[in-house]
Amino acid sequence: MDLGIKGETALVVGASEGIGYETAKGLLEEGAEVLICSRSADKLRYAARHLEQACGRTVHWFAADVTRAEDVVRLKAWLENETGRLDILVSAVGGSRRAGFEELDDTAWLANYEFNVLGAVRVVRAALDFLKRSDAGGRIVILGAAGARMPYEHQVVSNVHKAGLIALVKTLGAEFQKYNIRVNSVSPGRTLTSLWTTRAEKLARERGISADDVMYEFSREIPMQRFGRPEEIAAMVVFLASHKTSYVTCQSILVDGGIARGLI
Ligand SMILES: NC(=O)c1ccc[n+]([C@@H]2O[C@H](COP(=O)([O-])OP(=O)(O)OC[C@H]3O[C@@H](n4cnc5c(N)ncnc54)[C@H](OP(=O)(O)O)[C@@H]3O)[C@@H](O)[C@H]2O)c1
Repeated sequence: MDLGIKGETALVVGASEGIGYETAKGLLEEGAEVLICSRSADKLRYAARHLEQACGRTVHWFAADVTRAEDVVRLKAWLENETGRLDILVSAVGGSRRAGFEELDDTAWLANYEFNVLGAVRVVRAALDFLKRSDAGGRIVILGAAGARMPYEHQVVSNVHKAGLIALVKTLGAEFQKYNIRVNSVSPGRTLTSLWTTRAEKLARERGISADDVMYEFSREIPMQRFGRPEEIAAMVVFLASHKTSYVTCQSILVDGGIARGLI
């Protein structure tokens, strides 16, 4: 299937590893020019080299931390210089802190809000002028989480903030229609990235069992009985960023092996 994005320009934020990296790779494979961003210059350099080797095209990168407003202002200036136009924006930064309600003070709540919600808001703000210039109509895809649709115990901060992202996507999709920009979200379930391997190692230490045993226990709760692979999430992101979904906006699509089974 030709997704119709050959020659278009995409920015993927949070692309040095995990779902963002696989999204950048998927977009490159479809013929888009891809710019990548995350905090670590070393990780970006490494990711860009691997993407270039896999796809045979140059991948430019910029180091910015979305929890620092000034970094995202610098990202905007870099984009102006680098391309001046964007067709696709993917925001793949975020994560969950596994902690019960009683362990969380205001500082923890605000930090997670900035990481999961305000970071995405800042990135959209930085990219908006460039997306408005897209001849084909801009597309924004923001990574949410299945926990927003079926809140997990001990993940209250990300349950709440990822639910906020769904509201953000539905609001922006309506507001940006006047610019011919579609806005959607992909909500992954448990996915094999460093986010989960780090968590499994921590839980394994706390419980005196192996990380593999922790992963096995968590996978048993998933109808498909396994974690997702980052490229399985990225495939949906790329699809939503393509012209094959030209009548889809304001949506949050679950890619979660069936774990969030609510009727609405
Ligand atoms: N993995 C899962 O099970 C899962 C489940 C539900 C939802 N999700 C969501 O899916 C998205 C991607 O998750 P993932 O598992 O792929 O994460 P990941 O493997 O931890 O990768 C996160 C990426 O974001 C970058 N990043 C982290 N903090 C950043 C910041 N403050 N500013 C800029 N870049 C930053 C990281 O690179 P640097 O270190 O270079 O900054 C990395 O490239 C997130 O929104 C997450 O909440 C994941």
